[in-house]
Amino acid sequence: MESNKFHTQAEADVETKTTFSPSFSLTASATFQLATVVAVLGVVFIYLKFFRRANIQAKDAPPFIPSQVPFLGSAIEFNKNPVDFLIRMKNQYGPVFTIEMAGKKFTYLMGNEASSLLFNSKNEDLNAEDVYAKLVTPVFGKGVAYDVPNDIFLEQKKMFKTGLNIARFKEYVPIIEQEVRDYLTRWGDKGEIDLFEAFSEMIVMTASHCLHGPEIRSILDERVAHLYYLLDQGFCPEAWLLPSWLHFLVPKLRRRDAAHVEMKKIFYAAIEKRRASGNKGEDMLQTLLDTPYKSGRYMTDDEIAGMLIGLLMAGQHTSSSTSSWLGVFLAHNTEIQRQCYEEQCQVRGTTFEPVDYDQLKSMRVLDNAFRETLRLRPPIHVIIRHSRKPLNVCGYTIPANHSVCVSPTANQRLTEIWGEECANFNPERFMENDGLTSTESKFCYVPFGAGRHRCIGESFAYLQNKTIWSVLLEQYQLSAIDEFPEPNYQNMIHTPSKSVVRYEKRK
Ligand code: HEM
Repeated sequence: MESNKFHTQAEADVETKTTFSPSFSLTASATFQLATVVAVLGVVFIYLKFFRRANIQAKDAPPFIPSQVPFLGSAIEFNKNPVDFLIRMKNQYGPVFTIEMAGKKFTYLMGNEASSLLFNSKNEDLNAEDVYAKLVTPVFGKGVAYDVPNDIFLEQKKMFKTGLNIARFKEYVPIIEQEVRDYLTRWGDKGEIDLFEAFSEMIVMTASHCLHGPEIRSILDERVAHLYYLLDQGFCPEAWLLPSWLHFLVPKLRRRDAAHVEMKKIFYAAIEKRRASGNKGEDMLQTLLDTPYKSGRYMTDDEIAGMLIGLLMAGQHTSSSTSSWLGVFLAHNTEIQRQCYEEQCQVRGTTFEPVDYDQLKSMRVLDNAFRETLRLRPPIHVIIRHSRKPLNVCGYTIPANHSVCVSPTANQRLTEIWGEECANFNPERFMENDGLTSTESKFCYVPFGAGRHRCIGESFAYLQNKTIWSVLLEQYQLSAIDEFPEPNYQNMIHTPSKSVVRYEKRK
């Protein structure tokens, strides 16, 4: 009953699109604070009483990094700058080590050999659902992604892949180009712009138009954008740290749940409209309607809606963060920006023909600039699995129940692989040997992951971001205002802490 009451309140929040009334907000936050204090004290007590003994390491366990801070362990130091911390620890303790944060054991695998364990292991041994389901299922919904056994999710990924084909891509380029041209009309001749905000707005429209189709794009107004925002707020540390049955205590998680219900209704209506029209679209909605599972069963409307939400959310922040970092790099490196512009003139001619798929393929300078951005600022900075049993790597045995992690950011910044100048933005490094100084390094460039959980959206992400940047470079020149920004390490995706740049229309 109690949870129903909260649910209704949260639904009302979505309807009115306002923040909570002060009285509700006060009661909820007081309840939450009290519950948090009680929960934290309880966890500390249990930790001190029962689990400290578990810190006594087995002989062949990975080195354990000590911390003087009880319970929180290395969390504070780690969060200041995770990448520097991990590289320092690797230099001191070797490629496999365990740190403790908030009572949990995290074993990091650094470099090629150690990382191969995470990417090559079976999902039953190093499991993804155990880590991600609690965070993702309330946003995407039941029956998809980490809510189903991995072999079913692999079938769902396969359906996505069939939908992301070259014939479709050729159709998508003009759609994206037009969306960006329309969007940029609001910029005027010159000004200052927050790149992360701008790319987030652009990409929700381009991705929705291409992947969801025209029906769903046509209803993407402020209200729907707000629903995406509320869903997105659900990807937060509280959702990960608190057990699911306590999520109702956190206002933004209640809003997430209500937004999920609203969003599903919107998708059900769009699915119904497509079916009733008898038209076949060139989009993912059509692929999901037309493709059966191996068993011959077709997806339910609920599964299709969940897949469509998932598809958009998987590509939204990852792409807007990458494009914002590229913008920041180009604003600070005007010579590389000039080379990208020159390339546009060469490939498209100085009258700037409409962008097409083949032109995008031949934009090598822009391509390398993206690859280098994804090396230095991969949006997913840590890939995590849960060890369901002890596992051997590099002479160590990782115990069961550890969170086993590979950090793309750290692996992509190792001097032995990327050279002494590895912290510099240098797209040209990808002209030779894929930028690598060692051939034993396939897991040291993993912005899209690897193995069975590898990203299926890489080609679409390149297509989308390169089309956006082709129009942007054609029309505007960017310059830096502030110092080069640090990543915002508090966010789950390391966006730029400040991404405001100056822009001016080209004459
Ligand atoms: C710059 C853009 C993107 C980056 C950097 C990126 C990165 C990643 C990474 C690192 C993973 C592996 C996660 C893991 O192993 O735990 C992944 C998986 C995935 N991505 Fe992306 N992604 C991007 C865009 C997209 C887009 C546009 C889509 C959809 C159209 C998408 C859909 C997926 C899916 C379905 C998975 C599979 C997850 C799994 O099997 O567990 N991604 N992505």
